Amino acid sequence: MAKLCSSCNLLLLVPLLFISALGALQYSGANSDQTPVFFIFGDSTFDVGTNNNLLNSGAKSNFPYNGIDFANSTPTGRFSNGFNTADQIVRLFGYEKSPQPYLTLVQDPSTFKTNILHGVNFASGGAGILDATGNQTYGEVVSMGQQVQQFQLVQGNITEVLGPDAAAHFLCKSLFLISIGSNDIFDHYRYNRDTNLFNLGARKFGIVSIPPIGCCPYARLQNTTTTGGLPGCLTELNDDAQAFQLMVASLLEGLKYELNHEFKYSLGDVYTMTNIMLGNPGKFGGFKDAVMACCGKGQLNAKKPCNISENPNLCPNRSEYVFWDMFHPTEHAAGLVAETLYDGFSPIVVPMNFSQLAQI
Ligand SMILES: *[C@@H]1O[C@H](CO)[C@@H](O)[C@H](O)[C@H]1NC(C)=O
Ligand SMILES: *[C@@H]1O[C@H](CO)[C@@H](O)[C@H](O)[C@H]1NC(C)=O
Ligand SMILES: *[C@@H]1O[C@H](CO)[C@@H](O)[C@H](O)[C@H]1NC(C)=O
Ligand SMILES: *[C@@H]1O[C@H](CO)[C@@H](O)[C@H](O)[C@H]1NC(C)=O
Ligand SMILES: *[C@@H]1O[C@H](CO)[C@@H](O)[C@H](O)[C@H]1NC(C)=O
Ligand SMILES: *[C@@H]1O[C@H](CO)[C@@H](O)[C@H](O)[C@H]1NC(C)=O
Repeated sequence: MAKLCSSCNLLLLVPLLFISALGALQYSGANSDQTPVFFIFGDSTFDVGTNNNLLNSGAKSNFPYNGIDFANSTPTGRFSNGFNTADQIVRLFGYEKSPQPYLTLVQDPSTFKTNILHGVNFASGGAGILDATGNQTYGEVVSMGQQVQQFQLVQGNITEVLGPDAAAHFLCKSLFLISIGSNDIFDHYRYNRDTNLFNLGARKFGIVSIPPIGCCPYARLQNTTTTGGLPGCLTELNDDAQAFQLMVASLLEGLKYELNHEFKYSLGDVYTMTNIMLGNPGKFGGFKDAVMACCGKGQLNAKKPCNISENPNLCPNRSEYVFWDMFHPTEHAAGLVAETLYDGFSPIVVPMNFSQLAQI
C-alpha cells in the first residue's frame, strides 16, 4: 500500500485505511494504488468530447478525418487522428483511454455516480488562458473557471457516495492533469478561495505548459520570412510560451511553500520537449515532416480544417507527421510528449515526473 497523502490527516490513519478498503470494494477495485484516478482539465489538447455537448461551439472536431486512427475510425471530438495527450498520459498508467467528459457522464444519472469514481475529463477545446478570445472565436467553450465549478459538483457527488473521509482520501490520491489553464487556476486559487481545486481536495497536479505554438502550421502561415521555401515560426508566440513556462514554474514553487508542501506537482516543460522534437524530428520520433499539417488544405495544409466535406489532403502515414491539423499534434507526437511527462527527468519535468507524482 502506497503512503497516504500528507494531506490526509495522519491521525485518521486507521479509519482511513479501513474506509479506503471499503471504498475499493465500492468502486470495484478499479484503481490500485499504482493506478491513480484522473481528473483532467484544460483545452483542446485534452478534450475528449466535451465540446460535442455544446450546441453553439465552433471549437469542435467530431467529424472525419479526425479520429481516423481511433477505434473504428470514429471522430470522438478529440482534436487528433487518434488518442490525444490526455489519453496518452493515462494509457501509461494502464488505462485504455481518458475518462469520459463530464458533460457526457452527467447525461446519464443512473451511471453517473459510479462513473465519476473512475475519473472525469472536463477539458474543453478553446478554453484556457485566452478565455475571452476563446469565447469570441468559438462562441461557446467551458472556461477553466467553469470546469472547476463542474468539478465542485463532482466532488460533492463523490462525497455523497463515499462519505467525507474516504472522499478526501480518494481525491488526495487522484491526479489532476491540467494543460494550459494554469493562469486561471492560480487566479482562481487567489481570488476565489471557496472554489479552487486545492480547497476541493486536490493535492497532486500534473501540469503541462504551452508548446511552441508559434511553430504550428497555422502560426507559420503568418510569417512571411521563408527559409528553403518554408515559413519560419512566429517568434513572438514562442517567446510568450517560453515566458509562460518560467512564470508557471515559479508560481508552482511558491504555491508549494504557501500550502505547506501539501500541494504536490509535476510540471512538464512541453515547450522545450516539443522544440527538441521539432529541431530533430527524424531522431526524436522518426518523423518525416515537422512543419506541415497532415490533414487540411492550402499552404502547409493549414488554410482549411481537416473536414472531410471540404476534401482536404490527408497524409497516408500519420506517424510521419508532428502536426495532425493546423493546430494540433498527431497521436504519435502526443504519445512522445506523454512518455516524457511520465518518465522524463529534470529540467524537462520538475521537480519529479508524473509516475513519481502518482507514487508519492
Ligand atoms: C462565454 O459565452 C457564454 C455564452 O456564449 C457565456 O455564458 C459565458 O459567460 C462566456 N464566458 C466568458 C468567460 O466570457
Ligand atoms: C451531484 O451533485 C449536484 C450538486 O449537489 C446535484 O445537483 C446532482 O443531482 C448530483 N448528481 C447526482 C447524480 O446525484
Ligand atoms: C519568421 O521566421 C524567421 C526565421 O525563423 C524569424 O527569424 C522571424 O523572427 C519570424 N518572423 C516573425 C514575425 O515571427
Ligand atoms: C509510418 O511511419 C513511421 C514513422 O516514420 C514508421 O515507423 C512506420 O513504419 C510507417 N508505417 C507504414 C505502414 O509505412
Ligand atoms: C465541414 O464542411 C462542410 C462543407 O463545407 C460544412 O457544411 C460543415 O459545416 C463543416 N463542418 C464543420 C464542423 O466545420
Ligand atoms: C521518472 O520516472 C521513471 C519511471 O517511473 C523513474 O524510474 C525515474 O527515476 C524518474 N526519473 C527521474 C529523474 O525522476
